[in-house]
Order: sequence, then C-alpha cells, then structure tokens
Amino acid sequence: MKPQAFEIIAACLRNGSGLIIGPDKLYLLEARLARILKQHAIRDLDALADRLAADRGGALTREVIEAMTTNESFFFRDDKPFAHFRTHVVPRLLATRPPGARLRVWSAASSSGQEAYSLAMILAECRAQIANRSFEIVGTDISREQLVRAQEGLYSQFEVQRGLPMQMLVRYFKKDGANWRVNDALRAAVSFREWNLLSDLRALGQFDVVFCRNVLIYFDQPTKTRVLEAIARQMPPDGLLYLGGAETVLGLTDRFVAAPGERGVYALAGAKPAATVARVAMAAG
Ligand SMILES: C[S@@+](CC[C@H](N)C(=O)[O-])C[C@H]1O[C@@H](n2cnc3c(N)ncnc32)[C@H](O)[C@@H]1O
Repeated sequence: MKPQAFEIIAACLRNGSGLIIGPDKLYLLEARLARILKQHAIRDLDALADRLAADRGGALTREVIEAMTTNESFFFRDDKPFAHFRTHVVPRLLATRPPGARLRVWSAASSSGQEAYSLAMILAECRAQIANRSFEIVGTDISREQLVRAQEGLYSQFEVQRGLPMQMLVRYFKKDGANWRVNDALRAAVSFREWNLLSDLRALGQFDVVFCRNVLIYFDQPTKTRVLEAIARQMPPDGLLYLGGAETVLGLTDRFVAAPGERGVYALAGAKPAATVARVAMAAG
C-alpha cells in the first residue's frame, strides 16, 4: 500500500472518529476493510483511499469508520465499577437529590448495550430504595450496527455467559431460540442514540454519572483531552466519571480528580467530597 494512501485512510479515521491507526496496523485495515472493498468492487486499499479523498466525509467514510470500530463488550465488565456504582453512587445520589428528581446515567460508548443494561439491572435491583426518584439510562455510540444490536437486546449464549450472574439472567432475560433477549422492562429502562464523542455533546444534556469505558484508548492525547473536557461540561459539580482499566485522566486534563482509593472513578475537580455533599443534603432535607 502506498504511504499517501495509508495517510488518507488514517486521517479519515482520526478526523471522523478519533481512532488512531499507525502503519503497524496495516493488517487491521486489510482485515476489517475487506468487506467494503468487495461490496463496492474497489480494487485495493490504494483505490479505497482515492475514493475516500473524493468522498469528503460522506457515506463511504461512514462505512469505513464503522468497519474499523472495535466493539468488544460484556456484562458487568471488570465488576468493580459496577459494584462501586451500586454500593456508593446510587445511595449517594438518592441522598443528595430531592424527591421527584430524575437522575441520568450515560454509557458513552455503549457498543452492543451490555454496559447500559448492566446499569439498568443494578437500578432495577435498587428499585425499593429509589422510591420516588427516577433514573434515565442513555447509551450512545458512533456505530449504527452496534446501536441496532443494543436496541434489540438479543445476546448469544456465549455473551450472557461472560459476566452476567445466573440470577440476573433468569430475572431480566427470556430465552429466544438459541439466544437470550432482555425483558421488556429492562429494554424500556434504556434508550440508545447515535452520537460521536468528537461532536458537540451539549444536546445530550447533563448526566449525574458517566461510564466512558474502553473507548479513549483508541484516541490520541489531544483527542482524549478534548473528549474528557467535553464530558466534564455535561456533568453537575458532584457528577462521577468511570473510565476503563487501561484509561486515566492523568496528564490529560485537570478537570477530573481520581476518587480516593478507587481505580478508574473520577470526580470533577473542586467538587465537595461525596460524604460532605450527602450530609449537607440530608440536613437540608
Ligand atoms: C471496546 S467498545 C467499549 C464498549 C463498552 N463501553 C465497554 O467498556 O464494554 C468501544 C466502543 O466505542 C465506540 N466508539 C469509537 N469511537 C467513537 C466515537 N468517536 N464516538 C462514539 N463512540 C465511539 C465503538 O463503536 C465501540 O462500540
């Protein structure tokens, strides 16, 4: 492949989705773009680069971005963030938000939906405590294919065996042929929308809790900073951000600080410690 052609494809991915791809990943381009070459009868990656240069962010660019996304996800991925959300964050939100409040949780790169449905299952388990407040869970992703899958809520036996406790499977899923489908109540608890993290996030509104896990790893430093700071603007002062195990805010932005003693959990800089906020709210309420 010609170096200029590689640069055109790499720039299309970098500008369109933030994905950074180095020349050592040529094999990945070849593997993931083979289907597009075949579908459009494009000779090779050099010819694809010519077509992308003329496409100017159009349908072909979209297809290439879509094909290059890595969508691996599973239920309750890494356990700890979900346990932390359940035991620390839900009680804290319930203590600090007034009756009738609507609390919003965002799965910011939701892929096929497992993260958003894991959060919905936790909230369903906390139904009695939530009482007269409501939760809204929003899943967003750049990949239309994954959003369709997430909306469908249909998972293979293999997928439900990865991380989903048996009692949750029985309680929130029903068998559908060889697969498992999330039940109607869980499905209704989550909404999915197409959203590129590089685009303006303001129309999504404010989120009390943001799970943005295992997506920043694909971006370069300036893009990570840009996305983190845009997310910070969508959170109230006591909002919390969860990142993936290989991700951090360190060296990227000072808008977030690590939650004491927790890995991958971040509060907005300058926010009052959670315990103080909770005490003040309880005294006032
Ligand atoms: C590895 S999955 C992570 C899924 C889930 N958050 C988890 O931790 O299991 C990464 C997801 O990020 C999405 N993605 C990549 N670039 C994106 C962007 N610029 N905006 C929104 N989503 C993006 C991909 O489509 C993919 O579904």
